[in-house]
Amino acid sequence: MRTTLPFNDGWHYAPTQLPETANDGQFETVTLPHTNMILPHHNFDDAEYQFTSTYRKRFMLPEAREGRRVYLDFEGANTAATVTINGYAFPEHRGGYTPFSYDITDYIEDEAENLLTVHLDSSERPDIPPFGGRVDYLAFGGIYREVALRYVAPCHIKDVFIKGHGLLHGDERVEMEVTIRNQTDQSQQVVAVGTLEYWRDEMAVIEVPPHGTATKNIISDLRALPKDGYLWSLDNPKLHNFNFRLFDMKGFNSMDEKRLDALTVRAGLREAVFTEDGFYLNGEKIKLVGLNRHQLYPYIGQAAPERLQKFDAETVKYELGCNIVRTSHYPQSRHFLDRCDEIGLLVVEEIPGWQHIGDTFWKQISVDNVGTMIERDRNRPSIVLWSVRINESQDDHQFYVATNALARRLDPTRQTTGVRFFQDSEFLEDVFGFNDFSNDVEQPQSTPHLITEFNGHMFPTKTWDNEERQMEHALRHARIQDTQFGRDDVTGAIGWCAFDYNTHKDFGSGDRICYHGVMDIFRLPKYAAYVYGSQIPPEQKVILQAATHWSAGDRSGGGNNPLVVLSNVDEIEIFIGSELIGRFKPDREAFPHLPHPPFVIPVEMVWGQSHGNLLLVGYRDDQPVIEQQIALDGVPQNLLLETAHNELKADGADMTWVWFRVVDAYGNRLPFSNTVITLEIEGPGELIGTNPFPLIGGQAGMFVKAGDTPGEVTIQASAPRLKPVQVQIQVT
Ligand code: GAL
Repeated sequence: MRTTLPFNDGWHYAPTQLPETANDGQFETVTLPHTNMILPHHNFDDAEYQFTSTYRKRFMLPEAREGRRVYLDFEGANTAATVTINGYAFPEHRGGYTPFSYDITDYIEDEAENLLTVHLDSSERPDIPPFGGRVDYLAFGGIYREVALRYVAPCHIKDVFIKGHGLLHGDERVEMEVTIRNQTDQSQQVVAVGTLEYWRDEMAVIEVPPHGTATKNIISDLRALPKDGYLWSLDNPKLHNFNFRLFDMKGFNSMDEKRLDALTVRAGLREAVFTEDGFYLNGEKIKLVGLNRHQLYPYIGQAAPERLQKFDAETVKYELGCNIVRTSHYPQSRHFLDRCDEIGLLVVEEIPGWQHIGDTFWKQISVDNVGTMIERDRNRPSIVLWSVRINESQDDHQFYVATNALARRLDPTRQTTGVRFFQDSEFLEDVFGFNDFSNDVEQPQSTPHLITEFNGHMFPTKTWDNEERQMEHALRHARIQDTQFGRDDVTGAIGWCAFDYNTHKDFGSGDRICYHGVMDIFRLPKYAAYVYGSQIPPEQKVILQAATHWSAGDRSGGGNNPLVVLSNVDEIEIFIGSELIGRFKPDREAFPHLPHPPFVIPVEMVWGQSHGNLLLVGYRDDQPVIEQQIALDGVPQNLLLETAHNELKADGADMTWVWFRVVDAYGNRLPFSNTVITLEIEGPGELIGTNPFPLIGGQAGMFVKAGDTPGEVTIQASAPRLKPVQVQIQVT
């Protein structure tokens, strides 16, 4: 029978290449996910993390083998890994974004200590995608995802693919494509049994050749099931466990039944299709509104644990109100995708790459990436497109015929896309992915047409930029989304991008950051974030944010005219000081198509004249439901300290965000505050980040990482002239 055990703690790490004979004193002890180097959030050289490191683990087999095969499963390590077990070196694995496994059975000791070594080359090897050209993002280094040890019978379930068919057409059924691997010298006759959790058992007899695999579809008829009960949708993202058991045919259905394997796979059933006139989920037309996401974090690179990964998905759905996200430009963490499945957030998943196409060997890795990505993720209902071209590359007929053919073979249930920046490129996919940097919506030349990027480098914006720029940044997102909403020949638009991210010197603002996010690198909002957030139906969440620092002279010429407010209310009443300026409606004339257009309001506030505070009162159905007040005096009144979660797991790897902000009397951040913030921590946890932190943009963040003992963590923040504040986190 199968056992899967986490294999993440007790690793030894050295930031250099050490031989197997090196003594333990040369290493520090670490837990995965791990970054090969903690860095500042900007102003560093990416050459700093591009070296070969050594990870090592001594272990006794945690469970007796009992005739089973033992596998070592890596979820991801950047970028090229050479794994050695007790002196036996496996061929180098190349590529940082997809999982890889080794059958270590023949090299391990049952009764003695085993020595596992990983030499990890984190340099930008030109033979490995995405490298070889210039890439607008950093890859960082380290075994940055989890590792597991897996025991399976020599004849076991290798893979299961759940395919819904005819879900809306009266012949609902699910095909469970089961692949069995036989690692014995004899051919094996087995019975695979599959069940959609509470539904009927279905089975197939499978003949598996020696040292080979065999695949069969087990079909389950769903016609008698109530449809509402099982479909996955954005509002009701129902997931199901499909349970599989594998038996030796000999003795099946008798007293000496021999069970070889059992596996549970989570999947969802839905119909998702891009057509000439739009995207349909379960037959319902949905306009796609989204943002691109890099899985990059300040300080820790890509080594973010489950909680932080899931938090990003929640942010994109619940704070930014998106219904789709693109995993630019590589397959992302399984935890992020798990959360997309769980909360109902659609995904375009992409292979690693950026503009550059390498030689034949490089392309072979890329084709392999297509296969590994699809085999890893094809049971996820959230994924609606496989993006199988190198982002923004030139045409390459043979290469892209191959990636498309492989995607269609491995997953006939999903359409493919490929992202380009020129419309006359050869259209080999099912959906034309287009990065539209025209500051408008270009007329599609091929349909179905999906805008996979816009804005980005056309208008980088920092949280401490002047008001006009931050406001215009928001309006640009609003204009493009509004225009695409009005166009039936565009299925949706995915803006560039959700979060600011670290990049090479050839891009960005010179400090190794591309300030292209609607949120900053700490996942704190710029005004543009509220363009997206305010599209959330007000029945779910009422949003109101003025795109102003409410100062007399931050804009050219002074004043705050027009005042832009991002909100999903019906009307807003505005007061300056105690004077009522009027009640206003959203600007439907300039934004006829967005569900909740920005409010663009004339306010006469003249430079040099004294005014009062700004008060906005939002109304729904003529009732006041939300307000925002902004002080005119700009005096820092409070230091705010917040965490994204108040609980962590005591596993030595769990982490959450700690944010600090300097605010006025009403809680608005002061965008030009450069106060130095100092954090202190007590209890079983550790802070990760620049500390003290000289603020920029009035807001920033660090991480708190759990130790491996339970207890209460207290974090205190202090800053000159402000009252210190504390937060508590329970580590359990
Ligand atoms: C695109 C590219 C993205 C990012 C963006 C910045 O061309 O696909 O990765 O670099 O530009 O706007």
